[in-house]
Formats: sequence, C-alpha cells, structure tokens
Amino acid sequence: MSPTDNRLRRPERLAVIGAGYIGLPTAAGFADLGYEVTCAETNPTKLARLAAGQVDLHEPDLEDLVRRGLKTRRLSFVDHAQRAAGDASIVFICVPTPQAEDGSADLTFVESVVADIGPLVRPGTIIVTRSTVPVGTADRLRNIVGRRDVHVASTPEFLREGSAVRDFFHPDRILIGASEPVVRRRLGELYDVFGVPVIVTDIATSELTKHAANAFLATRLSFVNAMANICEAAGADVHQMMQVVGLDPRIGPKFLAAGPGWGGSCLPKDTRALAYVARQLGEPFTQLESTVRSNEAQFDRVVRRLADHLDGSVQGRRIAVWGLAFKAGTNDLRDSPSLEVCKRLVAAGADVTAFDPAVGAAAVSQLGFAYAETSIGACFGVDALVVLTEWPEFAATDPSLVAAAMSGDVVFDTRNVLDINEWTSAGLRLVTVGRSSPDPLNSSASANAA
Ligand code: UDX
Repeated sequence: MSPTDNRLRRPERLAVIGAGYIGLPTAAGFADLGYEVTCAETNPTKLARLAAGQVDLHEPDLEDLVRRGLKTRRLSFVDHAQRAAGDASIVFICVPTPQAEDGSADLTFVESVVADIGPLVRPGTIIVTRSTVPVGTADRLRNIVGRRDVHVASTPEFLREGSAVRDFFHPDRILIGASEPVVRRRLGELYDVFGVPVIVTDIATSELTKHAANAFLATRLSFVNAMANICEAAGADVHQMMQVVGLDPRIGPKFLAAGPGWGGSCLPKDTRALAYVARQLGEPFTQLESTVRSNEAQFDRVVRRLADHLDGSVQGRRIAVWGLAFKAGTNDLRDSPSLEVCKRLVAAGADVTAFDPAVGAAAVSQLGFAYAETSIGACFGVDALVVLTEWPEFAATDPSLVAAAMSGDVVFDTRNVLDINEWTSAGLRLVTVGRSSPDPLNSSASANAA
C-alpha cells in the first residue's frame, strides 16, 4: 500500500493543522514516509480518540496508518496549532473553508490559524495551504504573517474520499505553487518520493488549478447526466453511449457514470467558488453557473420521475431509500445528492425510510425521515425503492427479497447498478437513469439461452 521501504527519518519537521479528510491522511501519510509530524486538532473528543489510534472517518487503511504513526512516534496529536507549528519547518493548513450562499469562501479558520502561528514559527518555515482556497489567499496570508523570513505556498490536495490513503501514496500528479526558488526546492524534495509529475507554478495558478480540476469534473458529470436525460426521451442507452465516448483517449473512460446528480465536499463547493471568483474578477463563467443549476435540476428530476411512476405524486407514499452517503465508500453526507433527493421527497409529503451501510441512525436523526437498520428492513410495506448511492451490496441483494418486502413494485435505480434483467424478472418495475430497459441485447441472449 505505502512505499514502506523508505522510512528513514527525514530532515523537515512537519505540522498539519486540522485532522479532517485532508489533514489526517496528509499527517499520517507523511509520518509513514519517515517525517516527524505533529497534527493539531481542536475538538477534544476527536483529539483523544486520535491519540488512542481511533479514526472516525470511514476511510480505508487510514486507521492502520495512524496507528503505525503513533507506534513509531513519528506522528503525534496536539490540541492547538501553536503547539504543532512551533517546532515545524513546514506547516500544512488543512482547516475547513466553509462557503457562503453566494459561493464566497469563509477564510476565518485559515486566517486565524495563520495569525496564531505567524509570530512564533521559526525563520525559514513554509506555511502551505492544502485546503482548497480562492485565488489570492496566499497574498492575504503573507500580509497576516507579516514576516519576510517566513514563506507562504500552496499545494492543493486531490485526494478522493474513500481512497484518500491510496491517493496520498499514489497521486496522479503533485502541484506546488510557490514563488521563491528555495521553497520550490524544499517542497519538491518532500514530494519527490512519489515518482509522479511534480508541476511547479506560481501561487495564483496553483490556487486556481484546484478549482479548475473539480469544476471540469463537475461539468463532465453534468454533461453525462444531460445525455442520460436525452437518452430517456429517445429510448437510447447512456451506459453504452459513454463506453464508446470514453474509448476516445482524449476523453478517457472514468467519471462518465450518470446518476442522481453529483455531490460531496468538493465538487459542489468548488464549482460555486470558481463561479463566484470568476464574477469577482469580472469574467463571469456562465457555463459553470449552468452546470451548477443543471445539477439542482437533476435532483428535482429524480423526484419528478419517481412521482410519474407513482400515478403523479409522492405525497403520502412510503418510499425506501438505499444509500445516503454522497458516494459509495464513505460515510460523508456533505452535499450528498441522496440527502438532496430525500429532502425533496419529504417536502413533497413522502414517508421516507432510509438505509446506508456506513451512515448510522444518529447522523440522520434530525433530517425528517426514518432510518432502518438493514436494506430489506427499509423496504417493508413501501410503494417504491430508490437507490441513491452505489454501494456494491445493493447490487448484490436478491431482488426477490425486496419484492417480497415491498407493497408496490417501483424500484428507481438512480445509479444504474442493479441488473435490469434480474430485477425485472423478480416482478419489479425497474426505472433507471438513461438506460433502455431491459437491455435488448442481454434479453435476447437470455431468451436464446433459455
Ligand atoms: C473530488 C475529486 O475527485 C478529488 O480529486 C478532489 O480532491 C476532491 O473532490 P470526492 O469529493 O471524494 O473527490 O468525490 P468524487 O469521487 O470525485 O465524486 C464526486 C461526486 O460525483 C459524487 O457524488 C459521485 O457519486 C459523483 N460521480 C462520480 C458520478 O455521479 N459519476 C461518476 O462517474 C463519478
């Protein structure tokens, strides 16, 4: 998993401020590579759990990595940024950057950390933003620090939730935004071990590139979802279509799955942020604004299509929902498409019972719908089932158990993960996103086989 052959103690001492989805894999990852890393976390409960090697994020291999770091004593946790940064030569800022309604970033956490540590860090220290921040942030931080002997730089993370540890050790590329040659060299050495392209740019380019990458991915998904909607109207199949489209090496096969709309902690936030920044810079990004709007429309469309299959309305209907996390492999509910759909269903008067293999009842207690402890448990007596997250166990479920539990027969697979023929054969009416149903090729094949 990690390049464990090279764990010599290394000269730079690192501080990571914030033990969240970005900070914790960064801290534990660098400790595994041989660096002394001190990670600051202000939440006392979380801090105590981390110090005991307990990780609450649903992130494969992260807990093992943290435990290994604690065992080798290269990784330690403290309660304040100042305690982490005092001895460090490089400080990674990984605290949240919440977003206002208009897309502007609230940099309060980032700025207050930098104000706290600025006066006490050692000369030559590099303060690096790793959280996604709007272009121009490094300049603001440099002014806050107000010291010529302290450097500011940007190395945005590209980690995906659910594979953050893997992505840390096997990144596609490393981006370093820095102006001084010495900073470029030191950060370059830090990332050299990964053996992937390291692109060094000015800071503004680095800050903006992270937004560009995520906005591009979001736009790609909105395009696929729009094609799925057209396929539904035309009786075509978006899955087969994207297989062909993705075989063009200029496009590539990944990130082409149609769904209920995209979500998560980065794509929605970064698209809105870039649209906001573009307007501020006098260069409105109307195409991106339309990408954001079309995603909202995709959530509405899920509810509308479900209603169409329930005689025009979901009011008073009992609906089972499978999947609450924004994608499989995580328990993160931030900007989850599933929650967007659930909210709309509840607002339209539906009686919703949800199940998710990684999200517990406590996390959804305030959201206005019921929670079931099992996938089949969610289906008892319901008029319809909606699959909103692509957990593999949903595709592996025996459809006859679902059919026996449900009162109705509508199954809306918004992730296109259920086998059309199997689920249809169980007597269920399978609704998909942009797929011809059932697949004519597979049907004739099974007919011939029979
Ligand atoms: C994203 C970026 O991929 C990552 O590089 C960045 O560092 C952080 O933001 P993440 O938020 O973990 O990562 O999720 P990602 O895997 O990109 O998925 C985002 C959303 O797109 C999810 O809702 C997912 O379900 C959806 N998606 C993804 C699709 O609908 N179809 C696809 O083909 C791929």
